[in-house]
Amino acid sequence: MASKISLTRFLVEQQRVDGHIPSQLRLLLEVVARACKSISQAVNKGALGGVLGSAESENVQGEVQKKLDIIANEVLIEANEWGGHLAAMASEEMDSIYLVPNRYPQGEYLLLFDPLDGSSNIDVNVSIGTIFSVLKKPEGSPGVTEQDFLQAGAQQVAAGYCVYGPQTTLVLTVGDGVSMFTLDREQGSFVLTQENVRIPADTKEFAINMSNMRHWDEPVKRYIDECLQGKEGPRGKDFNMRWIASMVADVHRILTRGGVFMYPWDKREPNKPGKLRLMYEANPMSWLVEQAGGAATNGRQRILDIQPSQLHERVSVILGSKNEVDRITSYHTPL
Ligand code: AHG
Ligand code: MN
Ligand code: MN
Repeated sequence: MASKISLTRFLVEQQRVDGHIPSQLRLLLEVVARACKSISQAVNKGALGGVLGSAESENVQGEVQKKLDIIANEVLIEANEWGGHLAAMASEEMDSIYLVPNRYPQGEYLLLFDPLDGSSNIDVNVSIGTIFSVLKKPEGSPGVTEQDFLQAGAQQVAAGYCVYGPQTTLVLTVGDGVSMFTLDREQGSFVLTQENVRIPADTKEFAINMSNMRHWDEPVKRYIDECLQGKEGPRGKDFNMRWIASMVADVHRILTRGGVFMYPWDKREPNKPGKLRLMYEANPMSWLVEQAGGAATNGRQRILDIQPSQLHERVSVILGSKNEVDRITSYHTPL
């Protein structure tokens, strides 16, 4: 029987290939994976661990925090602050950046995360996850400021997510394709279960919150309307809809069997560019999708090329099977 490849072995081997992963980055990814294991344990315990329900506080986005949002955030910070691989962290659940305390050595990386994605699904036992993005601290600047984080997604050096579903699966890219690792609970380690993940260019499946239909912009209305007309319509085929309401689980389905995911700008709050956050939701997911042969735009521009101007900036997201994303983008007027 072929021996199983653990995440540790995979990263060590990647480090050997052309120094693909520097040792600090390897440590960082190991530590994030360890934190995800511990979040997975808390998620599994559910009501038995007293982790369900609201924390009755609000984050910087004005969203009510769930207990697990806060627990996952703390787990990621505690795991990452002492290893010497990071200069600072940023999270959906923290207003400003978190500097590595002076008592620990400073590293060269910046870590951004959505500690718990799909918060509305926690209490109903539906898949949720953790999303992360890794940037390099710009050279030459002493200390770390929020400005150092404001790099386009194309600058990411690693990105991934961990989905806590029937299985706990860690999905990772360091710019050399996408690999998936399944948590082996008996061994307590992530095991490589899929390499070179590819998203089919065509699909018959879309994911969008249909309850917002009346608020959508014309190009999105047109695309969904054409899908809904099925075989008799201009697309000449029937479409299926899936919407989990955890981006992490919707993207996991798309990386597994294709499809298109949209959280577009809509007229509810016209001044907000979208609901999802650019730096720790859209950027890491867009890079994973592109690395698997898919595409990701905001309707007018490749997401990875957007220059952020704020840490918690929001963005319109269209990602997944390349031909569908190209079609939806072509329905929008270019900038
Ligand atoms: P978060 O739980 O980190 O705030 O993100 C939730 C996001 C995303 O995962 C999902 O696609 C979307 O919110 C669902 O929102 P609605 O149910 O409001 O449409
Ligand atoms: Mn989220
Ligand atoms: Mn979240």
